[in-house]
Amino acid sequence: MKVKRRSLFLGAAAVIGGGGLYATSRLWRADSLNPQPLQIPPLLDSRSSGQSVSLTARAARTQFFAGRESPTQGYNGSYLGPTLRLYRGDDVQISVTNALASDTSVHWHGLLIPAEVDGGPHQLIRPGETWRPVLAVRQPAATLFYHPHVHGQTAAQVYSGLAGVLLIADDSQRDLGLPDEYGVDDLPLVLQDREFDDGRMVLPPGMMTAMQGRRGDTLMVNGTPHAVARVPARLVRLRLVNGSNARIYELSFDDDRAFHWIATEGGLLDAPVQLRSVSLAPGQRAEVLVDFSDGRKTTLVTAPDANASMGGMMGPPGGGSDSFAGGPAPVLMFEPGLAAVAEAARKPIALQLAKHERVDVSRAIKRRRFTLDMGMGGMGGGGGLSINGRAFEMGRIDERVRLGDVEIWEVSAQMMSHPFHVHGVHFEVLRRGGGPPAIRDQGLRDTVLVKEPVELLVRFTQPAREAPFMYHCHILEHEDGGMMGQFVTD
Ligand code: C2O
Ligand code: CU
Ligand code: CU
Repeated sequence: MKVKRRSLFLGAAAVIGGGGLYATSRLWRADSLNPQPLQIPPLLDSRSSGQSVSLTARAARTQFFAGRESPTQGYNGSYLGPTLRLYRGDDVQISVTNALASDTSVHWHGLLIPAEVDGGPHQLIRPGETWRPVLAVRQPAATLFYHPHVHGQTAAQVYSGLAGVLLIADDSQRDLGLPDEYGVDDLPLVLQDREFDDGRMVLPPGMMTAMQGRRGDTLMVNGTPHAVARVPARLVRLRLVNGSNARIYELSFDDDRAFHWIATEGGLLDAPVQLRSVSLAPGQRAEVLVDFSDGRKTTLVTAPDANASMGGMMGPPGGGSDSFAGGPAPVLMFEPGLAAVAEAARKPIALQLAKHERVDVSRAIKRRRFTLDMGMGGMGGGGGLSINGRAFEMGRIDERVRLGDVEIWEVSAQMMSHPFHVHGVHFEVLRRGGGPPAIRDQGLRDTVLVKEPVELLVRFTQPAREAPFMYHCHILEHEDGGMMGQFVTD
């Protein structure tokens, strides 16, 4: 909600999108910067609903700012969807009804399930239809993410609001005593940036957004701009989900407080790791524990997204198309309540969170190489967004893997950093930039940011016979533009 810097170099987009053409009331503008209470998506718990969960995707209107309506889409609501809680060991009957005017699908990002129920571009739901997969949940507790995956439409559908949090709960982890009161000391936080014009959400079009990915001038959490969260003055679990189309967050607190990182995309780490900042690329999740018992207000902030300037090659010097290029931007304010009576009940954080059986690297029987290609870096560019020079094609299977195998995937990136995501697997980062992985690379992942080349140890445990699994860049404009491939396991 500031002077549009993008008009400097996204001039075409500004004209097409109508940016800056509205007469804005200054008064309203000041008002729009007022903090708003953080919305918490309703919780749909599969065990309290007889192991069946229903979602309906529909078009709606949302007031992100009082008196300003935006056309949006949501699941069971006007923007985003409910948080689904499924339990390890359960089989859950899902039904997804498409009340939109266009095809959609719902992909369970991070769920280890067979490809035919994965919700990728091959499991389209036509308008008016209902899709009924049964999800067999067989993985440890984790924070996952669901969203549409229609080829060519994913970016626009997610941008307009179709996404939600999927929690896997695991009874065996109760003893750890981690905060788990949903919406109180256990908060799902979907981080998104959106572009607003006079308080109304707009979809930035144009060639530059296709190449750089869509970023917006307003940071929202769970669909709330300038959000403030009331939290109890104790240890609180934040489940951070990057639901943005393209923005990479580098998150820290404005008072530089330390926190404990406890879980990756794949679930709990072996042990908590004390950090002062955590980075989150599109599609990634992180769970952290933050101690608010000092009762002080603090703000979660993000550093500018270095990716926005495409390695400095296309933006103005030192700038880039990030509206927040000027410095750390507030993501979410925290206002702790009064210190809890139960100060005595405060447990220390468990030193051991999970025990993961390690897969021996020597079990990897094959190496594959993937280059996330922008088609303009010279070397082997096949023209446009692609992987290994080939743009995505629904009818082409790119890789064939044997079910049960372990492989090493070497992934490198052109022009900018790309978050690489693989469906139906967990992997570990073995090497980064030719050396050992970074501290923040540890744990089981399904999405990794590829800046320097990485080597991933991937286990293929899920069948993909009737339909393939996808692997792709999770900058949604890149995925839609063809930076995606598919594999089967047989
Ligand atoms: Cu979250 Cu294939 O995506
Ligand atoms: Cu996925
Ligand atoms: Cu990309």
